[in-house]
Amino acid sequence: CLNTVETVFRRSVGTEPIVAQTEGVQDNDYGENDAPKSLYDLMAHRQEQAERSVLISCPSRTSEKKFLKFLSKHGDIKKHFFYESYGVYAVVEFGSRDNVVSLLDSAAIPIVSHDSTVPFKSRLLALRNHSSVDSASQPSSLPCQPQTTVPINELIQRLSREESIDEQISSLTEAYQLTEENSRLRFLVCSLLKDIAAAYFPECTIRPFGSSVNGFGKLGCDLDMFLDLDSISGWNLKRPKSGLSLEYQMKRTNSERHVTQSILSVIGECVDHFGPGCVGVQKILNARCPLVRFAHQPSGFQCDLTANNRVAMKSTELLYLYGELDPRVRSLVFTIRCWARAHSITSSIPGAWISNFSLTVMVLFFLQRRTPPIIPTLNQLRDLAGPEDESVIEGNDCTFVTDFSKIELQRNTDTLDQLLSDFFEFYATFPFSRMSINIRKGKEQNKPEVAPLHIQNPFETSLNVSKNVNTSQLDRFVALCQESAWLLQQSETRTPRGVGVGDTPAAWGLATLLLPSQVAGIKGRKKRKREPASERIKSLLESLKNKNEGKKSSDS
Ligand code: CTP
Ligand code: MG
Repeated sequence: CLNTVETVFRRSVGTEPIVAQTEGVQDNDYGENDAPKSLYDLMAHRQEQAERSVLISCPSRTSEKKFLKFLSKHGDIKKHFFYESYGVYAVVEFGSRDNVVSLLDSAAIPIVSHDSTVPFKSRLLALRNHSSVDSASQPSSLPCQPQTTVPINELIQRLSREESIDEQISSLTEAYQLTEENSRLRFLVCSLLKDIAAAYFPECTIRPFGSSVNGFGKLGCDLDMFLDLDSISGWNLKRPKSGLSLEYQMKRTNSERHVTQSILSVIGECVDHFGPGCVGVQKILNARCPLVRFAHQPSGFQCDLTANNRVAMKSTELLYLYGELDPRVRSLVFTIRCWARAHSITSSIPGAWISNFSLTVMVLFFLQRRTPPIIPTLNQLRDLAGPEDESVIEGNDCTFVTDFSKIELQRNTDTLDQLLSDFFEFYATFPFSRMSINIRKGKEQNKPEVAPLHIQNPFETSLNVSKNVNTSQLDRFVALCQESAWLLQQSETRTPRGVGVGDTPAAWGLATLLLPSQVAGIKGRKKRKREPASERIKSLLESLKNKNEGKKSSDS
């Protein structure tokens, strides 16, 4: 552990602009000179694109050429793509907002014979083809971009064809990360919802946060959004010190939480009754962070809409920054998240499981604990912040540097293979009963309260991110870390096996870790025969013990 910021940040010379290192959500169509520096730049760019975009349901026999010709009557089409979700849809980005207005002016109100329609117009449209002869003569399929990940069994096979564990980790990241198209679709859904919320709050913005934008999102992850009313709340406005001025008269209440609940309640009603394609709306207003949950059918996204959630936006920005600092960060997070999902350590259903967010913080903490550290601590990032970075939200210090160029990293050459093995070892032996994981300090701290797993929230430091986790879930996690650490030490696991039965490659390396576990009490997807788990765990613990003893004697 190093003492000063100066000694901690020593970056290798001649590094490319950091933002250019990764793919997926970071993919963009910026020219080389105007690459975004921060998440805010990237988000502003995507939001502006979304405002100029429409979502159109298309009959599957549509001709792409005719479709584009028809739409380009309204203006220049900058980008388009098709995807499937309850039918085929097209995302079409026009050159300007005026093009969209012209397109919407030309659209008709649907004629329905039995049902009634809610007269709410939006940028979600349906293409109708009135010349049946023409449509029948067209080829049947449009080129659709996948919006979901490959199934786990297919992934296991894909990984087994790779030649090293490093390549397997990169291949997993490649297969799971959000694509440029998926990222655009997420911003478009936010923009469509903004049009609904604007019925009440014309100046509002709806921004995505969490894994949709923090660089750790997997295709198919939920869409977390927050209704940003900051331009109306005036919290960041300067007030004149003298002379006359006007202010709005506004209704007062004594609780900010109550305001958030009522806003979400009316927006939830509006989404439920008027939102095209929005189904299964649930208002969960008594949660610590009140939200409206619904499915957006045309995109296939499960959506969580919150309001007044600026701290979560800050943690999204922090995770994005960590992911951008070194490509190993995202790869390791993707791998651990995938491994955890394969063993049902995480789940899409809320419960006593470890969440993806908690897992991500655990990976970050592990990377801070390397020698030399791969990423800096949050306190070090705070110390590098300038006045423009200052941010205090509801009394919480959320300040950290946002200019990537001020951050210098140490030269750490650990391979992903090594990091993966060491991650499992690290948490197989972590003193969870006494210690709390703390990425602000980059060092474990004594637990401030009783909880099986304690991970300090980086900004709301009195909160435990993993408060929901019970002992049995933590035990499963630890047992699986032990098993995976042990597996990665076996030469049998570490050797590519070549093609097995038929054309199916035999699982090896990372692929083996994704297969169902045999550890007693750890339920896998399917049982398979292996030597008794107790024997393997015993030998693993022996090897870890020997290693630790070796370390202790070399330290002293
Ligand atoms: N968050 C938080 N504290 C928590 C849970 C969530 O601050 N205890 C914030 C984090 O910024 C997180 C975001 O809310 O990224 C969204 O939460 P969630 O959807 O649970 O996690 P994601 O990171 O989006 O991961 P997933 O892919 O599982 O949705
Ligand atoms: Mg999420």
